[in-house]
Formats: sequence, structure tokens, C-alpha cells
Amino acid sequence: MSDHAADDTVPEVDESRRKFLIAATAGTGAVGAVLTAVPFVASWKPSESARAAGLPSEVDLSKIEPGQMATFFWRKQQIYVVKRTPEMLASLASHDGELKDAKSEESDQPAYARNESRALRPDVLVLIGTCTHLGCLPKPRFMPGDASVMANWPGGFFCPCHGSKFDLAGRVFQGSPASVNLKIPPYSFEGDNKLVIGVDTQPAKGVA
Ligand code: FES
Repeated sequence: MSDHAADDTVPEVDESRRKFLIAATAGTGAVGAVLTAVPFVASWKPSESARAAGLPSEVDLSKIEPGQMATFFWRKQQIYVVKRTPEMLASLASHDGELKDAKSEESDQPAYARNESRALRPDVLVLIGTCTHLGCLPKPRFMPGDASVMANWPGGFFCPCHGSKFDLAGRVFQGSPASVNLKIPPYSFEGDNKLVIGVDTQPAKGVA
């Protein structure tokens, strides 16, 4: 019981140390948000502790240019956010016959993302960046025609571990060891430029 009495003692606050710890924590968060050198910008809330708890996370889409990808952590998973250009979107219609699950019938995504662009809003792609084969991180290979990935490459993602290939909607190509498309987390938008990962409050749009 005497221990409890000791716990009740309010320590004197060292104000300078407290400010230092706050600054150090903020710095760690900023570094943690920057994960990849692919054309990349990240803007990010909330705190490290909120992320660790899996709370919804907000992304400022105005910081991501068309054609760029930003990566974030949510529930200990890497999340890819791509601002797709009209050209990137147009490429999705070119290769349905080369995909394992073109309609995303066997794959894991919210109902509002079970459409050709696999998105609530076609210009914004949100994926869980974990290969559905054995869990490596697929790399962005957005340049169409990159023969080092495959002939007639439309742009997408390439997994360096065993060679799975995914298009710009995260749909897996035939011949890949992965059997299903990249997963899509729940998400929603607040206005034009705020993406909220982890909360899907908006009605489905454009569901085929
Ligand atoms: S983990 Fe990606 S292809 Fe095997």
C-alpha cells in the first residue's frame, strides 16, 4: 500500500525536458512517414500513437501530384496512395484478358472499390502494399512499356521477391505466383483533398 502512496506523489515537471521529448517525438513521426523515394510526398496525421492503435489516418491529397505515389502506415501495414492520371486510368481497359481476377470477384476490397478502377474515386488509388503471394512489398513501376517488367507493360507494381505483377489498380497478372489482387483498405474522403484511411462512411460510387 505504501507503493500507492508513493505513486500519488505528483513529480515536479521539468519543463525543458518535456519540451525536448515532444520535439523528439514529432521528429520521429516525420521520419516514419517518409518511406520511399518513388515520386513521393507525404502529409500525415495523426500521431505515432494513434497510428500504432490503428486509428483512422488522414492524408492531404493536395500534397501528391498526379502520377505520384505516397506511402503510409496504417495498422502496421504499408498503404500506397497513388494519384492516377487520365492516362493511367485509360491503361486499365487494355489488358483484362491478361489478369487473373479482372473483376475483383475473388479479391479483397470494400464493395465501393469493386469496379474497374478499384476505387471510390477513380483518380485516387488506395492499396495495402503487401504482396498477396507471400507478403513482400511490390515496387511501383509506373512507366508504361517498361520491357524489364514484361512485354506491353501498361504500368503498375512489380514484386521483387518472386515476380508477381499488378496493374495500376492492383490487379494481378496471369503468370504471377500471387493469386489475387492487392487488398484495398476501407477509406473515405472529406472534401476534395482529405483522404481518411480506416473509415468508410461514404456511399458506394460507380460499383459495376
Ligand atoms: S511475395 Fe510477391 S511474388 Fe512472392
